[in-house]
Amino acid sequence: MVRVTSLGKGLGRVDLRGEGIGKNVLPGRFAMVEAPGHPECILLRPYSYYVSESADHIALLIRDVGKGSGALLRAAPDDEVVVLGPLGNAFPTPAGKVWAIAGGVGAGPFGALATHPEVEILFGARGVYDAGFAESLRALGGRVTLATDDGSGGFHGTVVALLEEKLAKEKAPDALYTCGPGVMMAAVAKVARRRQIPCWVSLEERMGCGIGICRGCAHPDASGGWRCICVDGPVYRAEEIFAAMGGES
Ligand SMILES: Cc1cc2nc3c(=O)[nH]c(=O)nc-3n(C[C@H](O)[C@H](O)[C@H](O)COP(=O)(O)OP(=O)(O)OC[C@H]3O[C@@H](n4cnc5c(N)ncnc54)[C@H](O)[C@@H]3O)c2cc1C
Ligand code: FES
Repeated sequence: MVRVTSLGKGLGRVDLRGEGIGKNVLPGRFAMVEAPGHPECILLRPYSYYVSESADHIALLIRDVGKGSGALLRAAPDDEVVVLGPLGNAFPTPAGKVWAIAGGVGAGPFGALATHPEVEILFGARGVYDAGFAESLRALGGRVTLATDDGSGGFHGTVVALLEEKLAKEKAPDALYTCGPGVMMAAVAKVARRRQIPCWVSLEERMGCGIGICRGCAHPDASGGWRCICVDGPVYRAEEIFAAMGGES
């Protein structure tokens, strides 16, 4: 059974029910999901688990960027949807205060962590019109601070600028978790390195198979090698992926 809840233009929460679909779901793990009604889309698409209310339920946060994501947001309640998962590794269980820095669909992995008493979420959006995922995290009970590029809501600036401002005013957390655009995660990793805060990143590379066969998800790492993020990740210590830049202090 499928239920789609709109969270703004091109954004939604998709709830799926099926026997055993929510077993072993952890924050950071992902599922490969069919594009319902589009048999020509042979490849399943990867999405982070948002929340799982029982062993027979999962919810995903989806941004409509193409055929697969659009089809999920337009799915009918009685559509059958193929889901392969859970796949990949997870963020560590918080051991102390964690700030989770999310941008766009990078909100997905933080649904299950939103109600953890030690977790605060910093969410970056282009404007309030694009902040539906932040509202969804708040509706779960999460402590969410919004940053908007255009200043239409919350902190005026990027989520990395918000992180810097928060670090200047408050005691640093014990860890940073981040998921979102690559440039955002690289900037968070740089702040973490400078402040010596342990940091984990979750990569959202394009994927073909999701199970280690096609190598479509290869991502460069900090030592000049490549990581197959569907089996090796998607969650890594930041220093495994982002090398220190010359002149960085
Ligand atoms: C581990 C992981 C977790 C993810 N979690 C989520 C999530 O929770 N919610 C969500 O909405 N999306 C998530 N994504 C991204 C999602 O997989 C893609 O948006 C989706 O595959 C697009 O499929 P499509 O058929 O709609 O678009 P396509 O027609 O395949 O592509 C449309 C456009 O989107 C771009 N695109 C496709 N895949 C990606 C990607 N991985 N990263 C950046 N751009 C991409 C393409 O280059 C193209 O410009 C995740 C990806 C990974 C690898
Ligand atoms: S997506 Fe095929 S190997 Fe990772």
